[in-house]
Amino acid sequence: MADESQKWVLMVTAQTPTNIAVIKYWGKRDEKLILPVNDSISVTLDPAHLCTTTTVSVSPTFDQDRMWLNGEEISISGGRFQSCLREIRSRATDVDDKEKGIKITKKDWEKLHVHISSYNNFPTAAGLASSAAGFACLVFALGKLMNVKEDHSQLSAIARQGSGSACRSLYGGFAKWIMGKDDKGTDSLAVQLADEKHWDELVIVIAVVSSRQKETSSTTGMRDTVETSLLLQHRAKEVVPKRILKMEEAIKNRDFASFAQLTSTDSNQFHAVCLDTCPPIFYMNDTSHRIISLVEKWNRTEGTPQVAYTFDAGPNAVLIARNRKTAALLIQKLLFCFPPNSDADLNSFVLGDKSILKDAG
Ligand code: DP6
Repeated sequence: MADESQKWVLMVTAQTPTNIAVIKYWGKRDEKLILPVNDSISVTLDPAHLCTTTTVSVSPTFDQDRMWLNGEEISISGGRFQSCLREIRSRATDVDDKEKGIKITKKDWEKLHVHISSYNNFPTAAGLASSAAGFACLVFALGKLMNVKEDHSQLSAIARQGSGSACRSLYGGFAKWIMGKDDKGTDSLAVQLADEKHWDELVIVIAVVSSRQKETSSTTGMRDTVETSLLLQHRAKEVVPKRILKMEEAIKNRDFASFAQLTSTDSNQFHAVCLDTCPPIFYMNDTSHRIISLVEKWNRTEGTPQVAYTFDAGPNAVLIARNRKTAALLIQKLLFCFPPNSDADLNSFVLGDKSILKDAG
């Protein structure tokens, strides 16, 4: 290793978009390892609008692991950060950066500390899956820094231990998180179903109903649901396995009618499961419900679905339009129903295509 007096710093920057589940993950069978009760499928967004950018650096002058989120230092003593760091460190390999004259051996990585600086270009913890982009980016960037040789699906199993939905953000396009059977979680990982070029006429519009932090975190909400909801058991065992197969077919065949029906129905069942929880969890609000009615009415009038809707653990609507023309019409309709500067409670729109994981390192 370079001498301590040498003040070198080695750094890697990566950018990872968030993903939106079209078949939801809700409920863990193992909280510590983050093992889900069902498979889930998601679409990864365009990093231009909703992404995390993370820079990880290592230097012999760092005396502890530290992290800053959006410019403010946060604690990383929690189990989830520590699991990701531990798993990546244990897979670190030799680094020989001839240009900078830096050599780090596998053994050195055990003693070296890292500094992590992460930025979200969207509200943190407002039901826009910030932890998904965050942990995927962290694991990806650390993996690059430490010259980890694992493939994306192995990295996804590590990101999963930071936040379940993060495992799907290791891929662009469409990804599936396979729940796995193993108690240790080695087979609970994400795979890519189709890359970002597949079905690229889809346009995702996010109607930001509120950018406030959600009242019930996904982690707490899920725990309560697993403990109290009978509907969850029916969903996980009977409903989702069949839906996953149908969704895979719909994605493969670019069958928008089935895709929209499955996406919207699954979102509604997820929120029904939240209501079936004791005490009940309300993630959607009146504005969310009005958006659902608008889309349902429009789809019925057209006779075939134009837009799919889905809501995560918050009131913001993720609307997936079948093409650009439909997306433009959708925005017109939303602006008509929720005129700017009225008390309609709709803050802004984020428009994006599906896109790819970018390595800016
Ligand atoms: C509603 O991945 O945030 O967005 O694993 O406890 O960190 P933890 O939960 P998280 O939950 C996401 C739930 C969801 C559905 C989904 O993304 O599949």
